[in-house]
Amino acid sequence: MCGIIGFSGDRNCVPILLDGLGTLEYRGYDSAGVAVQTECGIAVYKTKGRLDALRELLKTHPEAQGTCGVGHTRWATHGEPSDINSHPHEAENLTLVHNGIIENYAELKKELETLGYTFVSETDTEVAAKWIGHVYKQIGDPVKTLFAAAKDLRGSFAFGVMYHDRPHTLYAIRRDSPLIVAKTDTAGFIASDIPAILSHTRSYYRPGEDVVAVLCGSDVHFYEESGAEKNLVQETVNWDVEAAQKCGYPHFMLKEIHEEPDALRRTVMPHLKDGVPFFGVPMLDGDGLKDVGTIHIVACGTAMHAGLLGRAWIERFARIRVDVDIASEFRYRNPVLAPNDLVVLISQSGETADTLAALRLAKSRGVHTLAIVNVVGSSVAREADDVIYTWAGPEIAVASTKAYIVQCATLRLFALRLAFVHGKMSEEDVRTRCSALAQEMPAEISETLQLAPQLNEIARRFKEHEHIFYIGRGVDSHLCTEGSLKLKEISYIHCEAYAAGELKHGTISLVEEGTPVVVVITEDSLAEKTISGIREVRARGAYVVCFCASAVADRYSIPADEIVRIPAPAEDAPLPLMTALQMLAYYTSFEMGLDVDRPRNLAKSVTVE
Ligand code: G6P
Repeated sequence: MCGIIGFSGDRNCVPILLDGLGTLEYRGYDSAGVAVQTECGIAVYKTKGRLDALRELLKTHPEAQGTCGVGHTRWATHGEPSDINSHPHEAENLTLVHNGIIENYAELKKELETLGYTFVSETDTEVAAKWIGHVYKQIGDPVKTLFAAAKDLRGSFAFGVMYHDRPHTLYAIRRDSPLIVAKTDTAGFIASDIPAILSHTRSYYRPGEDVVAVLCGSDVHFYEESGAEKNLVQETVNWDVEAAQKCGYPHFMLKEIHEEPDALRRTVMPHLKDGVPFFGVPMLDGDGLKDVGTIHIVACGTAMHAGLLGRAWIERFARIRVDVDIASEFRYRNPVLAPNDLVVLISQSGETADTLAALRLAKSRGVHTLAIVNVVGSSVAREADDVIYTWAGPEIAVASTKAYIVQCATLRLFALRLAFVHGKMSEEDVRTRCSALAQEMPAEISETLQLAPQLNEIARRFKEHEHIFYIGRGVDSHLCTEGSLKLKEISYIHCEAYAAGELKHGTISLVEEGTPVVVVITEDSLAEKTISGIREVRARGAYVVCFCASAVADRYSIPADEIVRIPAPAEDAPLPLMTALQMLAYYTSFEMGLDVDRPRNLAKSVTVE
């Protein structure tokens, strides 16, 4: 989704804005632009395409220099990616950048048109710019204007605004879209995310929705609607610049897959006390889970897929009913929630619009909410009743990898805690499984990374195909769902995941000579049934690659064309096996010469509905 950077300081802002936008590329975008307060007023430079196109454009404009400016990467929502639809957008008295969606832009546009305003772009943002500009004409005070105009806007936004008559000053306001503010001794910054400021400072503010930020160089203030100044506490980034750099890896995705063993240890260890799960959350560590009703896991994308694995473990270990919902469906289907239910939100970014809305819905119904989130202080983390942090560190590649692994690990710990509290598992069994999660699994993932040459070879074969199917049973069907998502996201090959037992009910008609079918087997007790599925698709000409726990491969004769042996006992195998599926997706995209980290049309953090 859109990326925002703003600078007010003592140096030419253009290189700083471009570098900042570079660090936000992972969010996904299709055009980029900057606005700079030059000696001759505010000048806007923007273009469709990648940042390199903007860099080229700026080379032809040596006058683009000034110590205050804003930059933006746009992920198109209203109007196609084009120069004119790119941000920044202008009104006669201000220039701004925006992340989010203004839902009532059509109404506002009509009203502005009757007042004589005209529009050059198709965007909701230009309407917002002109609306705020219109309010400014009436009110004359920049801070009061933002509070007043925000009341007229429906939807989500983070705005970075430069009023033409307020030199060297940036104004910012947000609702439901992320925005941070930072300062050094010589400059002030606004940004959509931490990587954009990390080469300047590790401290930042996270303004809430009730404040306007005003930055004039390093003079940074926050104001409430009453006009009173609000003191915000600075937060400190707990990871360093290297964590947001490739460090010698060709792509962030490969680097992040290689970080999985550490991310797993970092997440599991702090959540163990005396070898059993401990979350530092009274409701979870005390008796709060004893009379829990249905658990509703709600999330989007990969985080939702982690929820599927979580459901399997919670139901298996603790025998408690779990529903898994896609957040965008949950929020609109008027879900049945009982007072003792628990709603668990999972989100890497903590800013996904639908997940945040689902959280608010649950809270409005008086149901306890628990967030499993990777970004400290993010909106979901702040608004949930309780939070368990995953410690994957920053994830930059659009395709989520290490975040999924730690989300699954956290859910497994949670399932074990539930099993213990409900008397379904002995402390010793819980301890053994926790120790596997903290010690053995990270090592097994490291060993799985050694399968790279075999996976690369399979990827070379896969890249020639238009359709690939993934099948598995039980937990393995959920691994298939995430594995196939990974491959389709970054290779653009059509991939489908099916519960293996469902094959005969339709999908098998799509299998023809040479169709690749990925079969996943970690469920020992279901292996024979899945193996029957292999026979069925091979009989129709499928090329079968079976990913299975090595113990399963030793025990059964698997009639596959290729076997990828995951070096882990069956019960531990799901997470390392996912690492292998992620690598398969990575190498397929790499072999196809695609932009692995920034797949077309996708955004890392989906902050609009
Ligand atoms: C986007 C990303 C996915 C992610 C999903 C949910 O679609 O591309 O990788 O799984 O959003 O994001 P969240 O930050 O809430 O986990």
